[in-house]
Amino acid sequence: MFELEQFVSDLRTALGERNRQALKETVERALSDSVALMRVLGEPARAGVQVLHRASDLTVLNVTWAPSQITLPHDHRMTAVIGLYAGREDNLFWRRAGGANRFSIEAAGGLALGDGDVTLLGPEVIHSVVNPLGSFSGAIHVYDGDFLGTQRSMWNPLTLAEEPYDVTAVLKGTMPVTTFGTEHAR
Ligand SMILES: [Fe+2]
Repeated sequence: MFELEQFVSDLRTALGERNRQALKETVERALSDSVALMRVLGEPARAGVQVLHRASDLTVLNVTWAPSQITLPHDHRMTAVIGLYAGREDNLFWRRAGGANRFSIEAAGGLALGDGDVTLLGPEVIHSVVNPLGSFSGAIHVYDGDFLGTQRSMWNPLTLAEEPYDVTAVLKGTMPVTTFGTEHAR
């Protein structure tokens, strides 16, 4: 039985462990009953970022992606645990490229995440994400910091130049951010 309060409490306990693997294991336990999870979060029906918990040392988001939605390459600058409870997320990983390269980053691998998959991403990871399906996807995102309040980077899709992450675009664009329990997107 998934309970948000208990989940956050378990994540806080995991944060106290030396290894971030404990955060991943906590998300894996929450995803082991995706039906109970969706009873609390609802089935993904629109694109958005729902803030389930926000503190200086822990952010928990419910991220739902529209069919075929794509994000630009971006970094997190903190550990991230991504756990899919519905649909798919195809990750393309990037690394910073040397000076002789045309672009400042180059592709460095990929990872397809499906229903029930959980992955741990280190603070240096740069990725872009695609929902390859014609349906919505849903994922729990856990970060070991204030993800929404941290300066970070995104990379321009045309030039692949590093730019400051535009949080306003996230707030006002196609990805409404809501706080858990509110009915309307801000
Ligand atoms: Fe990300």
